[in-house]
Amino acid sequence: MVSKTLLIQIIIFSSILLPLSSSRDYNYPAVFNFGDSNSDTGGLVAGIGFHLDPPNGHLYFKTPSGRLSDGRLIVDFLMEAMDLPFLNPYLDSIGMPSFRKGCNFAAGGSTILPAAVAASCPFTFGVQVDQFIRFKTRVLELLAKDTNIDKHLPTESSFQKGLYIIDIGQNDLTLAFYTKTLDEILAWIPTILLEVETGIKTLYDQGARNFWIHNTGPQGCYPGILSTFGTDPSKLDELACVSSNNEAAKVFNLRLHALCKKSQDQYADANIIYVDIFTIKSNLIANYSQYGFKNPKLACCGYGGPPFNFDRQIMCGQTQIINGTSVTAKACSSSTEYISWDGVHFTEAANQYVASQILTGKYSDPPFSDKMPSHLKF
Ligand SMILES: *[C@@H]1O[C@H](CO)[C@@H](O)[C@H](O)[C@H]1NC(C)=O
Ligand SMILES: *[C@@H]1O[C@H](CO)[C@@H](O)[C@H](O)[C@H]1NC(C)=O
Repeated sequence: MVSKTLLIQIIIFSSILLPLSSSRDYNYPAVFNFGDSNSDTGGLVAGIGFHLDPPNGHLYFKTPSGRLSDGRLIVDFLMEAMDLPFLNPYLDSIGMPSFRKGCNFAAGGSTILPAAVAASCPFTFGVQVDQFIRFKTRVLELLAKDTNIDKHLPTESSFQKGLYIIDIGQNDLTLAFYTKTLDEILAWIPTILLEVETGIKTLYDQGARNFWIHNTGPQGCYPGILSTFGTDPSKLDELACVSSNNEAAKVFNLRLHALCKKSQDQYADANIIYVDIFTIKSNLIANYSQYGFKNPKLACCGYGGPPFNFDRQIMCGQTQIINGTSVTAKACSSSTEYISWDGVHFTEAANQYVASQILTGKYSDPPFSDKMPSHLKF
């Protein structure tokens, strides 16, 4: 049984939908993704039987689809732009999932390091990397045999030529604020990043050469964080977001950026690209009306009404007895106008905007045009 507080732990917004770059610009044969609910396409649901109710997924999949959103996630838009199918979760054993074009190890609630707070997800970054090793080993074993499942498995060269996306760390920080001070969290960030360093090394040793490492977003701006830590105006920053949460995210990102540079120096034959999600999401939240969105601090699907429409006791789509009354966390009428889907995760419209910005290459270091093969330039 997953605690309702899992929602707060799992983290993750209509607008003028910008067309993504043309799909023929990309030719990664496969994508291997590691992360939390920001990129979970069904891992937590398959892995621990986590239950998601409608209207999750209503916009695109017409069913919750294992994603904490009304539709597609950033990773789904990235896959579309690369002309690749949506990633199946490693943990999904039903329905003969195809892993030909990659595999998703992300699971909602995941942290880099095991979390101190209960009810967090067991699939830490280290576990996801171990799952990848097992996945690769097993694929190579099966490919060596004469089996009929080859067409559902990546080729051996896909492991080398594939893209490895890492998007994790948000839950380490958000959860830490329940038990630690900001100073304690800042002092702990290097320890968290050592684990990322180990993961990159392990993947490199396994043959991975192309990395996109997403930094963490401005979590202090999310309705779920604001409703818990942001009710005192003195705790807010210039964006009216919880300053300590955003400060932790900024320090984490500085160090993650430094780690990416260090890893690039260390692994000269690899392409290690740092992707600044924080700046893309901050700009979206600060300048929402410019991008056609409504109040970014109000969750579309939740309970409680303004200013945040978020209540930790009840997840989007659920019906609960709160204060002796049966209430349902319902969705707003037009989720494409919202940035926050459920107070923690972004709407499909916001995810599409973020993906379009990632794909400009401008928020990457090095910018795509520096390191990417010429056919990937745009
Ligand atoms: C909002 O837009 C303005 C004008 O384009 C820009 O200067 C500013 O940096 C943006 N805010 C954020 C937080 O990105
Ligand atoms: C429940 O009741 C308490 C005490 O009256 C109140 O502070 C709280 O806002 C109520 N919660 C909801 C969700 O109505």
